[in-house]
Amino acid sequence: MFFNSSVMGFLLLLCSSLIVSLSSGADTITANESISGDQTLISKDGKFELGFFKAGNSSNYYIGMWYKKVNTILPTVAWVANRETPVSNRFESELKIIDGNLVLLNESKSPIWSTGLNSSSSNSVVAVLLDDGNLVLRDGPNSTGHIWQSFDFPGNTWLPGAKMSYNNITGKKQLLTSWKSLEDPSEGLFSLELDPKGKQYIIRWNRSTPYWTSGTWNGHIFSLVPEMRANYIYNFSYVENQNESYFTYSLYDNETISRFIMDISGQIKQLTWLEPSQQWNLFWSQPREQCEVYDYCGAFGSCRQSGLPFCNCLTGFNPRSPSNWSLTDFSGGCVRKTELQCGRTSEKYGFLPISATATADRKPPNFTVLAVGSSGECQRTCLNNCSCNAYSYDNNGCSIWNGELLNLSDDNDNATTIYVKVASKDLPSQKKNNGVIIGAVVGSVVGLVLILGLILFLIHRNKRSVGKTAVEGSLISFVYRDLQTATKNFSDKLGGGGFGSVFKGTLPDSTVVAVKKLESVTQGEKQFRSEVSTIGTIHHVNLVRLRGFCSEGNSKLLVYDYMPNGSLDSHLFSNEKLLDWKTRYQIALGIARGLVYLHEKCRDCIIHCDIKPENILLDTDLCPKIADFGLSKLVGRDFSRVLTTMRGTRGYLAPEWLSGVAITMKADVYSYGMMLFEFISGTRNSEQSEDGKKRFFPMRAANVLIDGDDILTLVDPRLNGNASAEEVTKLCKVACWCIQDDEEARPAMSQVEQILEGLLDVNMPPKPRALQLFVDDDDHVVFFTESSSSQSSQARSNPSSGVSQAKSTAST
Ligand SMILES: *[C@@H]1O[C@H](CO)[C@@H](O)[C@H](O)[C@H]1NC(C)=O
Ligand SMILES: *[C@@H]1O[C@H](CO)[C@@H](O)[C@H](O)[C@H]1NC(C)=O
Ligand SMILES: *[C@@H]1O[C@H](CO)[C@@H](O)[C@H](O)[C@H]1NC(C)=O
Ligand SMILES: *[C@@H]1O[C@H](CO)[C@@H](O)[C@H](O)[C@H]1NC(C)=O
Ligand SMILES: *[C@@H]1O[C@H](CO)[C@@H](O)[C@H](O)[C@H]1NC(C)=O
Ligand SMILES: *[C@@H]1O[C@H](CO)[C@@H](O)[C@H](O)[C@H]1NC(C)=O
Ligand SMILES: *[C@@H]1O[C@H](CO)[C@@H](O)[C@H](O)[C@H]1NC(C)=O
Ligand SMILES: *[C@@H]1O[C@H](CO)[C@@H](O)[C@H](O)[C@H]1NC(C)=O
Ligand SMILES: *[C@@H]1O[C@H](CO)[C@@H](O)[C@H](O)[C@H]1NC(C)=O
Ligand SMILES: *[C@@H]1O[C@H](CO)[C@@H](O)[C@H](O)[C@H]1NC(C)=O
Ligand SMILES: *[C@@H]1O[C@H](CO)[C@@H](O)[C@H](O)[C@H]1NC(C)=O
Ligand SMILES: *[C@@H]1O[C@H](CO)[C@@H](O)[C@H](O)[C@H]1NC(C)=O
Repeated sequence: MFFNSSVMGFLLLLCSSLIVSLSSGADTITANESISGDQTLISKDGKFELGFFKAGNSSNYYIGMWYKKVNTILPTVAWVANRETPVSNRFESELKIIDGNLVLLNESKSPIWSTGLNSSSSNSVVAVLLDDGNLVLRDGPNSTGHIWQSFDFPGNTWLPGAKMSYNNITGKKQLLTSWKSLEDPSEGLFSLELDPKGKQYIIRWNRSTPYWTSGTWNGHIFSLVPEMRANYIYNFSYVENQNESYFTYSLYDNETISRFIMDISGQIKQLTWLEPSQQWNLFWSQPREQCEVYDYCGAFGSCRQSGLPFCNCLTGFNPRSPSNWSLTDFSGGCVRKTELQCGRTSEKYGFLPISATATADRKPPNFTVLAVGSSGECQRTCLNNCSCNAYSYDNNGCSIWNGELLNLSDDNDNATTIYVKVASKDLPSQKKNNGVIIGAVVGSVVGLVLILGLILFLIHRNKRSVGKTAVEGSLISFVYRDLQTATKNFSDKLGGGGFGSVFKGTLPDSTVVAVKKLESVTQGEKQFRSEVSTIGTIHHVNLVRLRGFCSEGNSKLLVYDYMPNGSLDSHLFSNEKLLDWKTRYQIALGIARGLVYLHEKCRDCIIHCDIKPENILLDTDLCPKIADFGLSKLVGRDFSRVLTTMRGTRGYLAPEWLSGVAITMKADVYSYGMMLFEFISGTRNSEQSEDGKKRFFPMRAANVLIDGDDILTLVDPRLNGNASAEEVTKLCKVACWCIQDDEEARPAMSQVEQILEGLLDVNMPPKPRALQLFVDDDDHVVFFTESSSSQSSQARSNPSSGVSQAKSTAST
């Protein structure tokens, strides 16, 4: 069908001598040109493209602007001209300049969208798509100003360089409004606007009900969006004069692709394009919790923060519009499966108890609180009132909801029991009082059975595969069946890393091995084998040795030496297996050596990308072995797996992970530095920062170093001061040097190795900004720092190296 319409369009183009076609790649529409069909405008630097696009599977076409360099399945649209007035045939519609305005004509050549300027009837007006994503009208091709710009009419996207303003003369506000759904860019219910009085932003539902505010701007941050502090990527500024107040922002690095949207989820989101992983990465979103969005699930829908999807209809209710519901547009809410037959016998109703809060709309006339003596009386009141939808009875009295129940959330501490009126036949049959609970339990049991079934199916499918044992380089190629036997059908799970789960196994010759089942290997068979054999050639005493692999169909497994002492985190952070200082220092040195080997001694340099205590294994002698190296390459370009698997484990990621620039070995250096602090303190850096009272450990350590205070106060108290002050100082300095913001300012691992070996001296590096980048439980990447902005600019402008000079080359 797509093919047919293109052919048709082509024929149309051929037949129509009236349409002057644009030269391809042009960034300008002049008076006698038009855009139609598949023609597009492209900005000079090739960043943005403008033309007809289709949103999702809908059959409607819109004139929109999208990122040309962003290769997502659907284009990432930053601006839409005719949000409310789509066309269905893009070859018969055209965008052209008529009487000094840019106008979209539909199939019957009626204007359906226009820039709406009072015509100057100027013949020289042109439309130009600029590099920053601004579409402007200019009076004359050589004019530099504009008489109209798309930046003044944002849709759901706020681009760098644009303003979000309040006009103090006209009182008009610029709104950022969400799309209705993934397939419909027309104005949705959620909008962001500036509140000049409070110097803050507000999100409103249906242009009225406010449900989120940013808090006052203090010159650096909004009081309720602390994650904007020390923002590494964006430079926000606020401007206020008698004519207008506005916010604008720029990017420190003009190569970064980043945008700010009012999402259909009712949240504002800041996203950055990660070139290495070819994905939009969520930087932060507000409100943080999906369920804090006003009326997100609609009437009689219940929001569960831990659920997927977030919204579910109450028992006895169905989505009003299942198709919208499946497009995650929940705003229509839910309706009763069986309409209530009001006025008939009350036998037909029942009350479904739900544990929830209904925070919104506790206002008359549809919500009343009655002073009645008992729960029974409250129930009777609701039963006898046709328009009563629900009641609750508690210390506040008898609450009666006559209107729709909005904003139900079932994981709130303050939940009360609300009884919802439903037709008796829609009540769960077993125990009426526990309707909801029974529903939930049944749901999860069914889910569990399904998952088990799936696992069994996969195992069974894999069983069918056959293979032969072969030798590839020094690696053994295992047969799946044998590994299944060795691991007792993958029953003894040692852990789950970023790339798959690891199981303990015993080979027929009694060698104990660790078998890693890789997930989502994107490579073909040949490439996989070649990559694996590369990893197989890497041997170093501080790297876990790969013994073999298995590749049968979709099953890709790696077989490693088994490390009886488990991973470093289980020693460092536990009380049972306390590591003494000497061992910690030796482990730090061993890891440095392993990394030097990966970075500098292998044929192809290998960046580990995920250095953290969980990925350091210890052998029987507590000699450290780095695990999982080379795997980010195996699973393809998807570097952001590293980001997503960081869920929960915070604070090892270098800031450049977010800026979209290529990751270098210095990202490993950063992670190593963060880990060194944990060697000293014996606790996770992140744990300490979460406790509001203690300072983020790396900052505390840097201050102790700079102030010349007693370094041993930093050391894990469980060691009772049994540590070498000289070595602690050295580790501290190296760690501070490794976590510099600017990767150029960090040492190479070989320098670190030499310092730890005593071959190099180290000066105090500049105080690190100690940004803490982590991925929270909702997959948001967040930065935190304790330093003030003056400290951060100091760190930025002083990236000098921390090394002084080579001391001696005595030992080897
Ligand atoms: C547009 O076309 C008209 C008539 O065909 C012509 O007079 C005019 O010069 C053209 N304008 C431009 C900018 O080419
Ligand atoms: C579009 O339709 C295809 C096929 O029906 C489906 O696989 C896909 O998920 C749909 N996309 C969206 C965004 O709904
Ligand atoms: C084009 O727009 C006009 C005015 O809105 C409308 O009456 C007409 O039906 C539209 N034509 C088509 C083919 O949709
Ligand atoms: C356009 O002109 C009309 C009358 O000539 C006037 O009422 C209107 O305010 C003008 N609009 C703009 C945007 O200048
Ligand atoms: C625009 O500038 C170009 C080159 O500077 C010149 O050739 C052309 O005549 C100018 N056009 C107008 C309308 O001034
Ligand atoms: C939004 O508000 C308008 C009135 O301003 C109202 O007509 C409309 O029904 C409201 N939408 C919803 C979904 O409540
Ligand atoms: C941030 O933006 C403001 C205003 O646009 C500008 O004056 C300032 O130099 C920018 N700061 C940096 C560090 O780029
Ligand atoms: C906005 O305009 C009013 C009068 O029109 C003025 O009193 C007020 O100070 C202006 N606001 C700002 C921020 O200048
Ligand atoms: C406010 O608008 C007036 C009239 O357009 C203009 O003269 C003045 O310079 C503007 N003030 C600022 C601060 O932009
Ligand atoms: C980015 O900045 C560099 C240096 O400031 C400049 O040379 C380059 O033209 C800029 N690129 C874009 C797309 O603005
Ligand atoms: C009260 O409930 C009725 C019935 O659901 C509804 O039509 C009406 O809009 C509601 N009124 C308010 C103020 O919410
Ligand atoms: C629970 O109620 C108390 C008192 O009304 C309030 O301070 C608290 O924020 C509420 N908690 C939640 C999670 O809503």
